[in-house]
Amino acid sequence: MNVSEIQTFEHDVLVIGAGGAGLCAAIEASAQGMDTAVVCKSLLGKAHTVMAEGGMAAAMGNVDARDNWKIHFRDTMRGGKFLNQWRMAELHAKLAPERVRELERWGAVFDRTKDGLIAQRNFGGHRYPRLAHVGDRTGLELIRTLQDHGVHQGITFHMECTALGLLKDGDRIAGACAYWRETGRFVIFRAKAVILATGGAGKAWRITSNSWEYTGDGFAMAYDAGAELMDMEFTQFHPTGMVWPPSVRGTLVTEGVRGEGGILKNSEGERFMFRYIPERFAPETADTIEEADRWPDDPNARRPPELLTRDVVARAILAEVKAGRGSPHGGAFLDIASRRPADYIKRKLPSMYHQFKELAELDITKEPMEVGPTMHYFMGGIRVDPDTEMTNVPGLFACGECAAGLHGANRLGGNSLSDLIVFGKLAGTGAAEYVRSLSSSPKADDEQITAIFRAATDILNRESGENPYLLHEELQDTMQELVGIVRTGEQLSEAIERIGVLKKRAQNLKAHGTSQYNPGWHEAISVHSLLTAADIVAHAALVREESRGAHTRLDFEGEREEWGKVNLVVRKGADGRPVVEKVERTPPPRYLEEIAYAKIEELESGKVGADAPDGV
Ligand code: FUM
Repeated sequence: MNVSEIQTFEHDVLVIGAGGAGLCAAIEASAQGMDTAVVCKSLLGKAHTVMAEGGMAAAMGNVDARDNWKIHFRDTMRGGKFLNQWRMAELHAKLAPERVRELERWGAVFDRTKDGLIAQRNFGGHRYPRLAHVGDRTGLELIRTLQDHGVHQGITFHMECTALGLLKDGDRIAGACAYWRETGRFVIFRAKAVILATGGAGKAWRITSNSWEYTGDGFAMAYDAGAELMDMEFTQFHPTGMVWPPSVRGTLVTEGVRGEGGILKNSEGERFMFRYIPERFAPETADTIEEADRWPDDPNARRPPELLTRDVVARAILAEVKAGRGSPHGGAFLDIASRRPADYIKRKLPSMYHQFKELAELDITKEPMEVGPTMHYFMGGIRVDPDTEMTNVPGLFACGECAAGLHGANRLGGNSLSDLIVFGKLAGTGAAEYVRSLSSSPKADDEQITAIFRAATDILNRESGENPYLLHEELQDTMQELVGIVRTGEQLSEAIERIGVLKKRAQNLKAHGTSQYNPGWHEAISVHSLLTAADIVAHAALVREESRGAHTRLDFEGEREEWGKVNLVVRKGADGRPVVEKVERTPPPRYLEEIAYAKIEELESGKVGADAPDGV
């Protein structure tokens, strides 16, 4: 292979992924004078962010003036079961409102309050209505806005292009190798800094809300390049995905339905969430139907239990199904029809209305939906510095879902879109500053490049081998069965063993045909990333011997104090297998600790947190 003959681009900053985080990072790097390019697997505007429905969380106080960054920070830490990176949760809560206003300046058309302010809706775990939204199509509007802004800023977009591996010059990053999905031709991107914004790896599970792109490419590329991953045991199952018909099982049913007043019932017609209120949230959750029904009209009523955090609601639905009180297709009933008028439902939840009409022949303004948990989100990811988003590999940055830290053991709904806009921008700044600090440009040697491309062509060139689709399905079955909402050590060990066998078999993957227009080849290439991500999740989940947030170990019930002091960091060992290390958490500044653990009345009265700095 003659490397000099391969198409090559040179950029200061290369962003891999064109979802909300990638676009924000690219816009910022470009605004700081960097020659910036974005590489994305699909067409611009089609990233998985468009599937984000309910809104982005930012303490703007437009609907309830009592809201502020301290309460958002406290909610995020409590939702994450205090395993979040303190600094990231602080930056996020403080910066999100300004990022939302920036989107508005760039042309985002949000829903409005009667006074003309950006409307904010309720979501699980958020004390006040906090989600700035556009009906239930917020992600779509976010991407449209960022895309328009980015295109006009002169960012180069390389579309339908899949990154295969990162390039290094010694320890530091030097670019990435990729291929054009249409032609199968290879391409080299030489870059001084690379920002990964590749999302999660939900496609490793059978039932997922994630789109085809979510195959863990960034996790695998970072891990193979020596970067650390963190908190990978925490995988979020959104409580409400569609359960029927089977062809659309897992498709997201926005938490906005519950935020707008929807309630959950079992097959006996019982509003079962009252039986699952955890002690930590009891003081702030209504424990009778009468009180729950006074909300949200009575500002002093406590929030209904349907708006508990996702980990709690997903486990509750699972428990109801296991107890024989599930809906006909193994879920629960989500009822908005009896709670809100039809025109309100159609206005605030238009996508849900059409989704159920078209996919399930059900009118949600008249009948309850059938819903159940669906693999939705990775709280864990690539470990980054909270302020710059740089990894332990110089020049390699990560933001959005593929980065770890903000969400701890469980993410609050709506905190992902705000994560993208806050940390995407910081990653763009971090990368620009890093590039400016370089005294020489990095240069990757030809051997690395040839090795990456050879691994991809081997899949086409070998005579016979494993079918990538079947292997992927076996992985999905393994993860669904053994690394689900609840897990045991025995199940996780079995998962690790099965994934090990799949990894060996994956060394012999075969795609038939040529490299042009070849979906079998695309699938085979993504199997490596999926297996890498799944293996890391299972290893980390086996080590964490407690139940916290989205990680529920049936053999280790409840949170354990000692486990609250460590995050699990994973690196690639010399034998290629994940090495999991317990890393002590850095103690927070006093003001953050006080705010996180304060009683809500203390915080709202100013008894706690009054001296906390509002700047970052
Ligand atoms: O339910 C939803 O609309 C999902 C939002 C999120 O995951 O943040």
